[in-house]
Amino acid sequence: MKIAIVLGTRPEIIKMASVIDEIKRRNIEIVLIHTGQHYDKEMSENFFIDLNLPTPDYNINVGSGSHGRQTALMMNGIEEVLINEDVDIVLVQGDTNAVLAGALISSKLHIPVGHIEAGLRSFDDTMPEEINRKTADVCSKMYFVPTEESAINLISEGISRKQIFITGNTIVDACYRNLKIANKRNINEKSLADLDIDNLSNILTLTIHRAENVDNKVRLKNIVESLKELKNMNLIFPIHPRTKKNLEEFGLLKELEELNNIHIIKPVGYLDFLALLSKSSLILTDSGGLQEEAITLNIPVLTLRYNTERPETVETGGNILVGSSKEKIIETINKILNNKEFRDKMKNAKNPYGDGSAGFKILDAIEKFYFNDLLKIESPEDIMLSFKREIANIKEDITVKEFEDKNNSSVKMIYNEKMYFPYDDLNMKDMIVVYDKFNL
Ligand code: UD1
Ligand code: UDP
Repeated sequence: MKIAIVLGTRPEIIKMASVIDEIKRRNIEIVLIHTGQHYDKEMSENFFIDLNLPTPDYNINVGSGSHGRQTALMMNGIEEVLINEDVDIVLVQGDTNAVLAGALISSKLHIPVGHIEAGLRSFDDTMPEEINRKTADVCSKMYFVPTEESAINLISEGISRKQIFITGNTIVDACYRNLKIANKRNINEKSLADLDIDNLSNILTLTIHRAENVDNKVRLKNIVESLKELKNMNLIFPIHPRTKKNLEEFGLLKELEELNNIHIIKPVGYLDFLALLSKSSLILTDSGGLQEEAITLNIPVLTLRYNTERPETVETGGNILVGSSKEKIIETINKILNNKEFRDKMKNAKNPYGDGSAGFKILDAIEKFYFNDLLKIESPEDIMLSFKREIANIKEDITVKEFEDKNNSSVKMIYNEKMYFPYDDLNMKDMIVVYDKFNL
């Protein structure tokens, strides 16, 4: 078997790491394609070093640019590679333009796509990431979802349950594998050495880069104004290049730099960043990955957004959405700092993203599909089975699998007052089932 991996930005490198390790461990051939969307050493190469990853076989060097230009160049470059490399599956991760380009061009070439972190939805189509992940999910053959909640999003969009694998999120693999290594590192190896984080208290780690925050002067100014109020915390702010550029352009960088409790630093490598997180009392962010890492590392997180495609973190109590409202940010931070019970409740929120074995589960599922000849995408030679979509109210003890066998059908959705993921062995008694009835 030969697997191609498409990645292009910092979070994709981090979240693909355990998958790449597992592919190598199983001696499966790998083709690593970097789109070059992130190209600064601090945004790309350092993560290959920290996570011990192989140098990409191809770099498309797309660089920065508009969405259309970036996506088109990536598709062109990925197509050229895939035409020459006879791969069995292409893996993409998350919701960046690399995911859109990789999934779209692979599906056009009839190469199966495995989408890692599939099924997330913010239900906000103004986010480029929402369009990317939804399009990638239309193009995919295998869906590796972090939670049941994301699996149900896909089920309600009509995706077959047989293509969905609930694996947890590979970010947990990355955190668990690297945290000890990060904390044992010699101080000289650390790019954070100047900061002496071991002797700083009340650390608040801050990251912002989301287009809807940093491209919007009003929102960015509100956030900056709220930072000025956090005088009792040490703010550590590894700054994303997009954010730095916009803070400068909007004339906001200088006033931030003048605060004596803020440390604005270059983006840091993964090991240093994990060490920093593990010393932090609080995280303030609009990052997707950080919402997941916070709940994995038991650190309260405030998310500088009005919605999230990671609602599990809010439901379990580890994450609070504060938008870009100065009042809400300050009020929530004060509540966390001054109320131990509230703080502990946030810290102890259950991690919904699994036990750190996502990479292993993803490869198990791929091998199962490959060895059962389920990966092939071929033009059909059998006349299609006509089917009718039906609905039934189940009154007997019967599992999903038994129902399908008995009724020559495929179960699409089941629910009573809420929707459930249709596991093979789930008893459907007292539930409503929507199913496709095949007409042989
Ligand atoms: C991208 C992803 C976003 C993801 C983020 C992770 C899309 C649409 N966006 O956003 O989902 O959360 O990566 O960090 O795919 N720049 C540099 N050096 C670099 C990279 C970027 O200076 O190495 C600057 C350029 O000015 C560029 C800007 O940052 O125009 C934005 O970069 P871009 O890759 O377009 O989007 P991100 O904001 O990084
Ligand atoms: N990260 C890092 N160094 C930094 C900032 C972030 O290693 O200076 C890591 C962080 O631990 C997380 C990932 O980068 O795993 C998140 O990336 P980002 O916020 O850029 O993207 P998103 O997750 O929002 O797509």
